[in-house]
This record gives sequence, structure tokens and C-alpha cells, in this order.
Amino acid sequence: MRARLALIGPGVLLAGAALAQSAPADPAPDGASLYGRCSACHTASGAGLPGAFPPLNRDVRMMAAKPAGRRYLALVVRLGLIGPLEVEGQTYRNVMPAQSGLDDAAIAAVLNHVGTRISHDGPAFRAFTAAEVAGYTADAGKTSAAELAALHASLAKGGA
Ligand code: HEC
Repeated sequence: MRARLALIGPGVLLAGAALAQSAPADPAPDGASLYGRCSACHTASGAGLPGAFPPLNRDVRMMAAKPAGRRYLALVVRLGLIGPLEVEGQTYRNVMPAQSGLDDAAIAAVLNHVGTRISHDGPAFRAFTAAEVAGYTADAGKTSAAELAALHASLAKGGA
């Protein structure tokens, strides 16, 4: 028994190695399915619920058009957000929990889904890459969810 196992052992190992090689090294995360965790609050269409959950529309694209706004968006997903936050004339004093379990590639994928499929108004959307998000999240520990709301306020007033 033991001898037979030893004989088929290398063959199985080789087959395993071949499988590992033919599989894509790092399959791209699916932004549409990741959005499922956002739609619980922001709704499937992204319209949100006035006063409770902000819409993911024009404001997202406005933020994505500014360098500091792109950092803001990536860190909102990583750290969550504690308002007050003003979006489209409504003030939100709610809490968005940190979206734990999303790595940089997943954050890029879900933001790209929001920017292209959920958000329809505002400036053209430029896609995020995982590497860009990694640049923002590397020092995420230096920022708090409440500071992100303050950053949003200064960006909405016309900051870079
Ligand atoms: C449990 C509810 C909840 C979930 C889940 C959630 N959010 Fe939020 N989100 C909020 C709330 C609430 C705010 C506003 C924070 C406040 O009221 O202080 C917000 C704010 C935001 C903002 C800032 C909007 C702006 O115009 O500046 C973005 C962007 C965002 N969420 C994206 C996401 C994405 C992407 C996901 C999924 C990966 C997600 N959210 C999941 C509740 C949620």
C-alpha cells in the first residue's frame, strides 16, 4: 500500500503543479458581486435613502476627479465613514462600517463598478487600479473615519 502511494505520489504532484500553472495567477475581483455588500445600505441602484444612506452618484464622480478625492474614496471603503457628511444637499449623521475583508484589488473593483455602473452624473470616471489603491491604503492607520468626513467637507468646498 505504502509503495503504491509513493508511486502515484509524484504524478499527482505534477498534475497539481500543471493545474496551478494553468489557473489565472490572480483572478480580478468582480466589482458587480462585491457591490452586493454595499447595496444593503446604498440600495441596488445607488440612490440610497435620504438622511440615512447617501446616494452613490454625482458626488462619487466629483471626488474621483480629484487626487485627494480618490484617496478619500479608497479609504472610505477601507475605514468606513463617520459624518456629518453632506451629499447633494442632505446631511448624513450615520456611520458606514469599515468594509473588512476587501483587499486593494477588491476596493478598486468595487469603486470601478460604482463609478461606471452606479454613478451616472458628474465628470467622466477614471478607473482605479489595485496599485493606486495600495498607495492610499498603505498609511490608512494614520486617518480616522471621522477625519475622512472632514476631508470630504474641504474637498466639496473646492479643495484639491
Ligand atoms: C451598513 C451600511 C453601509 C454599507 C454596507 C456601505 N455603506 Fe457606504 N456609507 C454608509 C453611510 C451611512 C455613509 C455616510 C456616512 C455618514 O452618514 O456619516 C456612507 C458613505 C459612503 C461613501 C461616501 C459618499 C460620498 O458622496 O462622499 C461612499 C463612497 C461609500 N459609502 C461607498 C460604499 C461602498 C463602495 C460600499 C460597499 C463596499 C459601502 N459604501 C457599504 C453606509 C454603508
